[in-house]
Amino acid sequence: MAKTDPVETTEAQLAVHWKEEDYYYPPVSFIAQANVTDASILERFSEKNFPECYKEYADLLTWYKYWGKTLDTSNPPFWKWFVGGELNACYNCVDRHLPKNRNKTALHFVPEPENEPIQHITYQELWVRVNELAAVLRDFCGLKRGDRVTLHLPMTAELPITMLACARLGIIHSQVFSGFSGQACGERIADSQSRVLITMDAYYRAGKLLDHKQLADIAADKAQSENAAPEKVLVWQRHPGKYSSQTALVTGRDFIVNDLLPQYRGRRVEPEHMLATDPLFLMYTSGSTGRPKACQHSTGGYLAYVAGTSKYIQDIHPEDVYWCMADIGWITGHSYIVYGPLALGASSVVYEGVPTHPDAGRSWRIAEELGVNIFHTSPTAIRALRRAGEDIPARYNYHFKHMTTVGEPIEPEVWRWYYEVVGKKEAVIVDTWWQTENGGFLCSTVPAIAPMKPGSAGPGVPGIYPVIYDDEGKEIPAGAGQAGNICIRNPWPGLMQTIWGDPERMTRQYFERYCKDKKSTDWHDWPYLAGDGAVHAADGYFRILGRIDDVINVAGHRLGTKEIESAALTVPEVAEAAVVPVPDELKGRVPELYVSLKPGFEASPELSAKIAAVIAEQIGPIAKPKHVWIVPDMPKTRSGKIMRRILTAVSTKGNTGDITTLANPDVVEIIRSTVQKGT
Ligand code: PRX
Repeated sequence: MAKTDPVETTEAQLAVHWKEEDYYYPPVSFIAQANVTDASILERFSEKNFPECYKEYADLLTWYKYWGKTLDTSNPPFWKWFVGGELNACYNCVDRHLPKNRNKTALHFVPEPENEPIQHITYQELWVRVNELAAVLRDFCGLKRGDRVTLHLPMTAELPITMLACARLGIIHSQVFSGFSGQACGERIADSQSRVLITMDAYYRAGKLLDHKQLADIAADKAQSENAAPEKVLVWQRHPGKYSSQTALVTGRDFIVNDLLPQYRGRRVEPEHMLATDPLFLMYTSGSTGRPKACQHSTGGYLAYVAGTSKYIQDIHPEDVYWCMADIGWITGHSYIVYGPLALGASSVVYEGVPTHPDAGRSWRIAEELGVNIFHTSPTAIRALRRAGEDIPARYNYHFKHMTTVGEPIEPEVWRWYYEVVGKKEAVIVDTWWQTENGGFLCSTVPAIAPMKPGSAGPGVPGIYPVIYDDEGKEIPAGAGQAGNICIRNPWPGLMQTIWGDPERMTRQYFERYCKDKKSTDWHDWPYLAGDGAVHAADGYFRILGRIDDVINVAGHRLGTKEIESAALTVPEVAEAAVVPVPDELKGRVPELYVSLKPGFEASPELSAKIAAVIAEQIGPIAKPKHVWIVPDMPKTRSGKIMRRILTAVSTKGNTGDITTLANPDVVEIIRSTVQKGT
């Protein structure tokens, strides 16, 4: 990875000016029932007990065969956990709960339309539905262990059911966020060489029934253009028995799952005995180069890690009703809606729609009706709920014991609203810092043991040893008040196994920068570079500042700036494009785009709108720039590098600093006046 220019770490300099926030202590009512109240967990997971400490997490699972070696470091940085062990993730999330909890709700599916009944799917029913779908996948599609399947499913019960059916057969699922475009989905089908695409005809969002199947057609075409057309497209019906899309079914390719299932009624499929080191799923994320990359997560290590962190950090007990508002299309949903909570036998809520639809009370009505007692969301959602009605939660009779925030830094004022108004001062809060690559939490307080500090994630969770390095690789000690690159010194079972099809990128992007000896097979020589700036306070808590690479965190999700720029460059008029992150009251950060045009083209509002629309179409609405500024030229260094820092300063009305060394300093004033006129 290229050396990071410290000037680009724009927020890092702010860090030293922050005041330390006061602690908040976990309520006694929470401590009284918590899964872990004994600080000896920190000792059990201390470095001297590494890696055997992770046996405690693996022992939360049911194994067909116990593993021989806990951690194999022979091929760094491709660590192997629980080597030789055999298990099945679906068995662990479903079958093993039947003897005791057959009739307990596994999933509460809450449709967006409020007049449509909530589905309470018991573990028994989940087991039946997963088995029947697994029979379709195996016997109708001919899928087998190790095959890849792309899912482009919205937030309905069919999504976890499909994931679990894949896991039952050892099929590697790759769920693409339903808000992503057909093209983005098609690229991911091609990259993963998926044999089948599984989608849904339609789903509800903000009061509208969206036609989703049309994206599958675009996706299949896109995959075909890369010589990777899916053999079959399976389509779930949002309203079983009724096809809700305007698009025709392609004969021989498209099949309605709801029509196939009756032929497989009553079928049972034995779970495959998977190796702990077999992949469970792929999850795409953005990095500092153009194309998204798939993080490959393992079966044993991943499941052990999400079960352990769900138990100790989320404090999930089997009797809890747990609602994580994330979308299952992101890693948070995989780990903390599906695999973690179900491995522990909890009831997990899947909500289809927008949290403030049809009004700001919706989320709290759901919490009240289902008796949700653990709640999990992002700062973006918290800000949106607060804006929609500061005092609305007080009108509803729900009680959370535990709340999570994840995905982006949370401002202390927003944290306090979450604590006081949403949590009614009764709930403990964990601010969990981690990434798609990581499988599960990296930094957070252990809720009944350590106090909360608004705006700070906390220390490493048990078994995670973070460190902050400066650009030269020197450790920045706790309390120095200086920002640097946060790294994790040790391997952990939730870390992805590799980047699908590009192992070299795994090494380059995450390990090369601070590797002490490339020939070493000692994990101490291989710190993991997260790509975030952070400050380490004297009390050991980490405050995360944001990304240091070319990635923008929009509403808690990573978008690659190069991806957005490449989409802009497909517009024939565009010559150059540069994306910068700008602060946004609701979403934390949003992309703003600067483009220059090829000779002979004129700037116009229509052209700006067209460029924004192309980006939304190619990547998804989440990537749509707040503004598209058409400028005569980009500010450039003499070697021709676009100075994004200067564009960021213009967008945020900040100081552009010294521009005299630019090849074209005059353009900065022109850009500034364009932006001033336009906002
Ligand atoms: O910059 C960090 C930010 O989100 C990035 C990871 O994004 P993604 O892979 O999409 O995963 C999101 C959910 C795990 C990180 O590199 N981030 C995540 N959690 C926090 C955070 N920033 C501050 N505080 C957090 N709690």
